[in-house]
Amino acid sequence: MALNSINPTQTKAWSKLAAHFETIKESQMKTWFKENPNRAEEFTIKWEDFYVDFSKNRITSETLELFKELAQELNLQDAISKYFGGDVINQTEGRSVLHTALRSPADVEVILDGANVMPEIYKVKALIKTFSDAIINGTKKGYTNKPFTDVVNIGIGGSDLGPAMVVDSLSFYGNHLRPHYVSNVDGDHVNEILKFLDPETTLFVIVSKTFTTQETLSNATTIKNWFLKHGTQSDVAKHFVAVSTNTAKVEAFGIETSNIFPMWDWVGGRFSLWSAVGLSISLALGYENFDSLLKGAHKMDTHFKEEKFETNIPVVLAFLSVWYNNFFKAESEAIIPYTQYLNQFATYLQQAIMESNGKSIDRSGDKVAYQTGNLIWGEPGTNSQHAFFQLIHQGTKLIPADFIGFTKSLHGNLDHHDKLISNFLAQTEALLNGKSKAEVLSEGTKAAIVPFKVFEGNKPTNTIFIKQLTPESLGKLIAMYEHKIFVQGVVWNVFSYDQFGVELGKQLASKILNEFDSNTIVNHDASTSNLLSYYKNHRV
Ligand code: F6P
Repeated sequence: MALNSINPTQTKAWSKLAAHFETIKESQMKTWFKENPNRAEEFTIKWEDFYVDFSKNRITSETLELFKELAQELNLQDAISKYFGGDVINQTEGRSVLHTALRSPADVEVILDGANVMPEIYKVKALIKTFSDAIINGTKKGYTNKPFTDVVNIGIGGSDLGPAMVVDSLSFYGNHLRPHYVSNVDGDHVNEILKFLDPETTLFVIVSKTFTTQETLSNATTIKNWFLKHGTQSDVAKHFVAVSTNTAKVEAFGIETSNIFPMWDWVGGRFSLWSAVGLSISLALGYENFDSLLKGAHKMDTHFKEEKFETNIPVVLAFLSVWYNNFFKAESEAIIPYTQYLNQFATYLQQAIMESNGKSIDRSGDKVAYQTGNLIWGEPGTNSQHAFFQLIHQGTKLIPADFIGFTKSLHGNLDHHDKLISNFLAQTEALLNGKSKAEVLSEGTKAAIVPFKVFEGNKPTNTIFIKQLTPESLGKLIAMYEHKIFVQGVVWNVFSYDQFGVELGKQLASKILNEFDSNTIVNHDASTSNLLSYYKNHRV
């Protein structure tokens, strides 16, 4: 069954939230902390190795109560059952959304069109394991009988960002295989990567759900041609494998059927790292680590499905996000991990979040009259403190931020880690409390300079403190955001699992591409026509 279509702003709870907002919008969080010594405890969720403190938010217990009422009016619980139950909730593409099944235990049944999908999932998992084990331990070799040293993932969007982020984030757990990711159709990207590779010891994994994506097919063709300058056509099978739903197109490209890792249309591209799209994860980190990632995600799935809303991490984070987006009119959200390993995390989340909820048509097909998907950005702390934190502290915009930190570092350098975590804690404290005029004056600041040194504070943050960065904890963290996205989509009444917004640019690009070598340029606006001519005159 499809998801309900309910305009959230027409609900009773929304009106109550709007009234409640008027009463607390000017309130200071630091006053609430003084008034209620239990505030931090009351707004902290401790779950497994996660400590999620959301007390530094501009909410009271009434705010959460009203969001629970909203969830009830919008049938959130029923939506969650439909999501996990394989209902066709990606209605505009006529598909189920079952990436959660990829991380379910084998003995759980997930029925789709009358058949259990789990045996097929576990068959592919076994293929991933056998293949990655053989590449890692060197039993599968290249065409000159040398073991592999490098793995190149060729894909874009969900066929690149998820695996690239996971492999980078968990590089501590990596083996001897050097991972590379080619995504951009910019030929300089692929050439920069090829320049250091040895065709005799490099494995290429072409990842494309549709196997029609221009960037991926162009890069794969360039790489295959480069390979054929060294090896022969019959060597291709040893060096090229593919992950796709489109077997016919993969075979037409010249990849052997036995080298195709299947995936399914009920796995959305941006949620596909748990499928064979994660083959490069299994290769670079080993199958056991890939499996731990999946197990972590499954634990978060269970938490999300079973936990009551007030202590349900993804649900609470989604409520908070809607609160700032729709009531405080915040436009963006920052993701600030206090670990260099999560360097690519915000980039990964940009696709997951913005491709999912960047929609303006509701589930009835009508234009929404309220804000939906927020802008996502971020960089690791402490680097970002020396870059854009000025604006978060003293700019005019309200930017709610997720601070993600780990109590133990991976290399165990306590001196560095203490410094890192002191910054992690200090920043959310500074954003909460700010610095008053009196405090600035008491430091002996000249009167004329005082206004510039005042920090208003009252800036909201979530602190997501996790014991250690492991494959399992990363799996939980990614799944946490996936479910937050789902809840936001339910509240905003949009279809979170299609991405028609990326199509128009693709269509126009293929039209323009054909015009570069033709004499006529037609049907463009004057600006585009001029730019096109300018390029034609300068391209060689
Ligand atoms: O950007 C649009 C998109 O369809 C993404 O959703 C997807 O992850 C990406 O392109 C790549 O698609 P494919 O895996 O089919 O090459």
